[in-house]
Amino acid sequence: MATPLAEAYGPWGVIAGGSDGVGAAFAHKIASQGINVVLVARRGPVLEASADEIRAKYGVEVRTVVLDLSVPDAISGLARATSGLQVGLFVFNAGADDISVPFLDKDLDTHLSLVRRNCAAVMEAAYRFGAPMAARGRGGLVLVTSGAAWAGGAARAVYGATKAFDLILAEGLWAEWRSRGVDVLALVLGRTDTPSFRRALEAMGDGPPGELADPDDVAEAALAHLADGPVWIYGSADPAGGSPLGALSRRDAVLMVSGSWSANTEEEDKV
Ligand SMILES: NC(=O)c1ccc[n+]([C@@H]2O[C@H](COP(=O)([O-])OP(=O)(O)OC[C@H]3O[C@@H](n4cnc5c(N)ncnc54)[C@H](OP(=O)(O)O)[C@@H]3O)[C@@H](O)[C@H]2O)c1
Repeated sequence: MATPLAEAYGPWGVIAGGSDGVGAAFAHKIASQGINVVLVARRGPVLEASADEIRAKYGVEVRTVVLDLSVPDAISGLARATSGLQVGLFVFNAGADDISVPFLDKDLDTHLSLVRRNCAAVMEAAYRFGAPMAARGRGGLVLVTSGAAWAGGAARAVYGATKAFDLILAEGLWAEWRSRGVDVLALVLGRTDTPSFRRALEAMGDGPPGELADPDDVAEAALAHLADGPVWIYGSADPAGGSPLGALSRRDAVLMVSGSWSANTEEEDKV
């Protein structure tokens, strides 16, 4: 007998960025409920290892697509690779920044690549994979975003802007598709223990990370609340609520999230 998750969102789920961290946790939770999964990522060996583990553990079908989601035709390629599968659940997870540095300290191509993966590809995936769900009157779409979406911040101007795009896109689609049987959720994450996050901390020379969310807990909560959109703020006392910075003026919110970066800039400006 199909599980409630498989009935609502089966028989196939796609996880864009599904080979490690939060994406792999999603893949395990979804597969454990009897939904076949397509895992997408760039590093083939990591992807295959994850796929083998899921097949062995849950006995579902697992397909892998080695793909860079930041290239312009990524999503049309993914749509071709999955044609013939009835995809009832799409999780767009890939989205982290590799390092936080001031805007002009990164080359333009790196910024453009982040925007293509975090904005254009997310929108195109929602369009190409959401359309058949809306036509069937059944499906789920999870866009993984970040607390960086709440306000602009120094050293993460582009990353924060892309995550705000994902948040607003999910909210709009939720409003459009709630009457069409498609659940849309913007999953807002804070600091979470993933390989990607650990690499970023190391690259920035940061000390011990402090308390981090567990990817398994994050994925479990998101799937349990997929129908409670438009937003789920993992770890918040008010997970379906608004921005935790909402009581501040925009200026104070930006200065607060910019922290030492903006203080340094002000000092540098004085020199
Ligand atoms: N970790 C945190 O503290 C944190 C905090 C707030 C929000 N978030 C959000 O949570 C999501 C997951 O973050 P994460 O820390 O797990 O790191 P991530 O790098 O966004 O996700 C890792 C997964 O995405 C794949 N991936 C990354 N870039 C890709 C690309 N261009 N094309 C295809 N696959 C790609 C990775 O495999 P390959 O590297 O092999 O491609 C891996 O499977 C992101 O949307 C991020 O913005 C994370």
